Amino acid sequence: MKPNLLTNTPHCDLAFTPTPCYRLSNISADLECNLYCKRDDLTGFAFGGNKVRKMEYLIADAIEKQSDAIVTSGAYQSNFCRVTAAAGAFAGIEVHVVLGGTKEPTMSGNYLLINHLGARIHAVRSDSWEDWEAERQELADSLRKQGRVVYEMPIGGSVPLGAMGYVGAFYELLDDFKRLGINPTHIFFASSSGGTHAGLLIGKWLTGWEGKIIGIGTAKSGGRLSEEIRTLAKETGDLFNTTLQPEDIIVDDAYVGEAYGIPTKGCEDAIQYFARKEGIFLDHVYSGKAAAGVMDYIASGKVNRKEPIVFIHTGGNVELFA
Ligand SMILES: Cc1ncc(COP(=O)(O)O)c(C=O)c1O
Repeated sequence: MKPNLLTNTPHCDLAFTPTPCYRLSNISADLECNLYCKRDDLTGFAFGGNKVRKMEYLIADAIEKQSDAIVTSGAYQSNFCRVTAAAGAFAGIEVHVVLGGTKEPTMSGNYLLINHLGARIHAVRSDSWEDWEAERQELADSLRKQGRVVYEMPIGGSVPLGAMGYVGAFYELLDDFKRLGINPTHIFFASSSGGTHAGLLIGKWLTGWEGKIIGIGTAKSGGRLSEEIRTLAKETGDLFNTTLQPEDIIVDDAYVGEAYGIPTKGCEDAIQYFARKEGIFLDHVYSGKAAAGVMDYIASGKVNRKEPIVFIHTGGNVELFA
């Protein structure tokens, strides 16, 4: 049963849940494994993905605080900025997005959708997340000086309220496992700002589930991301009275490649493989790299092929049109 805090904390129903979870029969046959997929790319709202689950709590908080402006930041192809722009539009709250990058953006993918959604765009000529966040802070301060009630959402919505979305998702996964009659040894997914990872870990600690939760890093070094997840999981866990178990925080950064957002060969291969075997579209920034990691774990025997494992498809495939 879900903890009371989850059901009592205000949230807006944006996502179509439960999302499908099923065995990937063609890939499982081809790789002689037992691979399941949780289709969080199909959360539905504004083209879906993992950010919708986080946004259900964040936008409800913004509404409760009577905010009249939301400020967030990300890359031009940010999935979180797309979902924030949509949630703000839906709630009738003005959204400001600080979009960063040194390359001239093309009007495509998430950037195009953010424009369609009517968000106010503030460009920063930098690839550094720190610069984007500094600009967001400055913008929020200046709006406050104009008397606005500003709600700030940091990169990826990775604060305890956002992470709650994935505490809920973990309980949904346990229902899926029960229905499917499986007890997976591992759950894999793309990890970047840490909110998805922290939420799943709280779910594991609350329920005593024994499998491993492995975030495939897509941005920064595994050490740095693990530290951030540890802080966020501690803050979120305190709300639920769970005890932090740092040894459970597993980030594998072996599949990032050159840098965040730069495709790797493994990721390109995974995108084609999932499309051609299962009709599932991944992306080059997150889910493609995570799937490349899962395939390598299977091929190299880091997981027992006979045991069920789960890949959470966190979405992001709008990027294929960028
Ligand atoms: C499609 C997709 N997958 C995974 C992630 C990683 O989620 P988190 O930031 O919660 O670690 C993101 C975040 O940007 C994303 O957009």
